[in-house]
Amino acid sequence: MKGIIFDVAADVVRADYGDDTWDDLLDAVGSDGVYTALGSYPDADLVAIIEAAAARLGVSGATATVMVGRQGYQILASRYPRLVADIPDLRTVLASLNTIIHPEVLKLYPDATPPTFLLRSDGSDLLMTYVSERSLCRLAEGLTLGAADAFGERVSVTHDSCRADGDAGCVLRVHWSDGDDPR
Ligand code: HEM
Repeated sequence: MKGIIFDVAADVVRADYGDDTWDDLLDAVGSDGVYTALGSYPDADLVAIIEAAAARLGVSGATATVMVGRQGYQILASRYPRLVADIPDLRTVLASLNTIIHPEVLKLYPDATPPTFLLRSDGSDLLMTYVSERSLCRLAEGLTLGAADAFGERVSVTHDSCRADGDAGCVLRVHWSDGDDPR
């Protein structure tokens, strides 16, 4: 996983709980905390840091992962403003992930392996099949909620199926509260 994602997790933890907490988490997982945007680091380190944060907060790993994603979206968007500059709403962000956002990430970091999302509508809901070598569908859930926050949209994100529950794949369902999505 690229260092930028570790940086985002660091920013989220530092903003809410302070530098000392971030340092404690790094100590807990035996990391020196040096994550450069261009570097690549073991996925297991990110999972361990998030699990340590979850234990400290008394929440599940899934909940902590969603929190990092939800608050992390704004941080990612502010670090890569060009990628999201002309995007007007959540549906367009999600549709742009495969076509613009993550392809641009690959131009910057050719060794990155961002996920792919297969999108289809179900009534006014959007179904997103998460395709990745990783099992970070909860991060996708959080990033989706964070993007909704950024556009002032009210949505719920649930998992129609999830590898964590033994299903073959992860399908996220994005549901807009009445009145928020005109389409
Ligand atoms: C400003 C917008 C965004 C930027 C700049 C961005 C960038 C990135 C980068 C750099 C990675 C690391 C890839 C790697 O290390 O191989 C990544 C991973 C990821 N991105 Fe995005 N992303 C953005 C928005 C989103 C949104 C809205 C979602 C929600 C669906 C999302 C879902 C993910 C997930 C789940 C991963 C973890 C890798 C995986 O599961 O395989 N991203 N993204």
